[in-house]
Amino acid sequence: MCGIVGYVGEKQALQVVVEGLRRLEYRGYDSAGVAVVSQGLLDTRKKAGKLANLESLLGTDPLPASTIGIGHTRWATHGGPTDLNAHPHVSADGKVAVIHNGIIENFAELRAELALTGVTLSSETDTEVVAHLLAAVLPDAGMDLAEAMRRVCLRLAGAFTLVAVHADIPDVVVGARRNSPLVVGRGDGENFLASDVAAFIAHTRHAVELGQDQVVELTRDLINVTDFFGNAAEVTEYEVTWDAAAASKGGYETFMAKEIDEQPKAVSDTLIGRVNDEGVLHLDEMRLSENQLREIDKVVVIACGTAYHAGMVAKYALEHWTRVPCEVELASEFRYRDPVVGPRTLVVAISQSGETMDTLMAMRYAREQGARVLAICNTQGSTIPRESDAVLYTRAGPEVAVASTKAFLTQIVACYLVALYVAQVRGNKFGDEIAAVVRELAEMPRKIDLVLDTTEEMKALAQQLKDAPSVLFIGRHVGYPVALEGALKLKELAYMHAEGFAAGELKHGPIALLEEGVPVIVIVPSPGGRSLLHEKIVSNIQEVRARGARTIVIAEEGDDSVVPYADHLIRIPACPTLLQPLVATVPLQVFAAAMAEAKGHDVDQPRNLAKSVTVE
Ligand code: AGP
Repeated sequence: MCGIVGYVGEKQALQVVVEGLRRLEYRGYDSAGVAVVSQGLLDTRKKAGKLANLESLLGTDPLPASTIGIGHTRWATHGGPTDLNAHPHVSADGKVAVIHNGIIENFAELRAELALTGVTLSSETDTEVVAHLLAAVLPDAGMDLAEAMRRVCLRLAGAFTLVAVHADIPDVVVGARRNSPLVVGRGDGENFLASDVAAFIAHTRHAVELGQDQVVELTRDLINVTDFFGNAAEVTEYEVTWDAAAASKGGYETFMAKEIDEQPKAVSDTLIGRVNDEGVLHLDEMRLSENQLREIDKVVVIACGTAYHAGMVAKYALEHWTRVPCEVELASEFRYRDPVVGPRTLVVAISQSGETMDTLMAMRYAREQGARVLAICNTQGSTIPRESDAVLYTRAGPEVAVASTKAFLTQIVACYLVALYVAQVRGNKFGDEIAAVVRELAEMPRKIDLVLDTTEEMKALAQQLKDAPSVLFIGRHVGYPVALEGALKLKELAYMHAEGFAAGELKHGPIALLEEGVPVIVIVPSPGGRSLLHEKIVSNIQEVRARGARTIVIAEEGDDSVVPYADHLIRIPACPTLLQPLVATVPLQVFAAAMAEAKGHDVDQPRNLAKSVTVE
């Protein structure tokens, strides 16, 4: 999604803004631009393509020195990724520059209205209408840019984060948000605006959350927040707990490689302080009372993509440990199917970014139906946890690569914790049973670490399979969502056709896909678990092999029953069936990243993708 940075202070604004945009590159974009105000003039530079294109333009056609500026990386929605459509967009009088994240759904109507006043747009974007509207209302607003922004926001429908500057108001940056992220960085004699804190934590870790339908006015010493009607608004300030180093590559080739390796620590951190030595769970931070947990008669998980796969794992664990029915829903489908939710439904919204619009809109719908919402999120102060009744933060640290890895494992761990806590509160499981699972969970960081030491074979396999037309993934029980996640990783990173199946479904159609040499990756459940499950998947391996498949088998140490049928055998540490996704997923992440590298793709910023999809 688009990246937004605003600055007013004592430093050279251009440097602060461009550095901030670089820290937001992971959000995915296809053009970039900046604007500064200097000696009563507004000046902009913008360019299609990566930030480097903008920087080379700035090298040949520099901007004047200035201590106030805004910058933008655009993920195209209305209008292609061209120089003209890149942000900032400027009013006809050349005095107002605006940058925008989101979609203005009534822009055609506003564009027609502007045409009646003789204003024609020079770009294909919805954003440009805002620049012209601000210029039009400013005189009536007493040349108060914040007041002009409030009046214009009341005219807009849809989701938007807007940031604007004006040539004649050289010490003020104004921002506004509705259904799209914007956070303030409070500095010393300087202030920042950004899509997320990564853009300014090199300068300050004092952050100010902005709420729904709010306008913020910044000078170097002032932060003033109101609602769209000018009423002073309550804001929440917080310290950003991670620093710029954590968000940098730390010596790795790619953020994804770093984040795969950070998984043991991420899982360990997510457990800290939430279970005690006796195996008793303490999740008071969730802000859900024991009575509220006893009242629920259904859990509905809503999420997208990888987070949805984490929710699928959660279903098996939650129903097994708590006996509470659990549905897992694609957030983008949920509110359109007239779902049955009510006051006794606990909706669990899983989101790494906390800004995914599909998930946000689904949880808002659920709350309107009277359900309580628990957010499982990795980004402090983001919109989804802020609008939930309760939150359990994962502690994966900043996940910069678009393809989610450590966030996925910590989402699963957070779901385990919630499920075990519900079981503990409702008494579905005896304390010693819960304590036994908690002890096994505490062992998982070490087991994930073991898997990380054995990834060379998956990297070699990626080289061998890089020209394969497709790769199939099969699994049973919690191995099924792992198969889906493995396929998603390969699609995202290698741009290959890949598909995950419940292994039992093969014979109902997909087995027709098999022919000589088709790679099939099989996630084999623990032999010590539900043995019938294990027997069935071994039969599935034989079925696919009998039809020429090249079998890549992921199986636990000591599971020798699969050896005769594995063209490639990838070992993972033995662990309880329900916890196996924490180790079985890792080879698939490594495989997909290696495949992307083998194909020469950008591992951290795959084409067409964004780290946080803040449009529906
Ligand atoms: C996963 O690798 C993708 N980046 C994508 O599927 C992602 O999981 C999905 O967009 C949900 O994002 P969220 O967790 O930030 O809500």
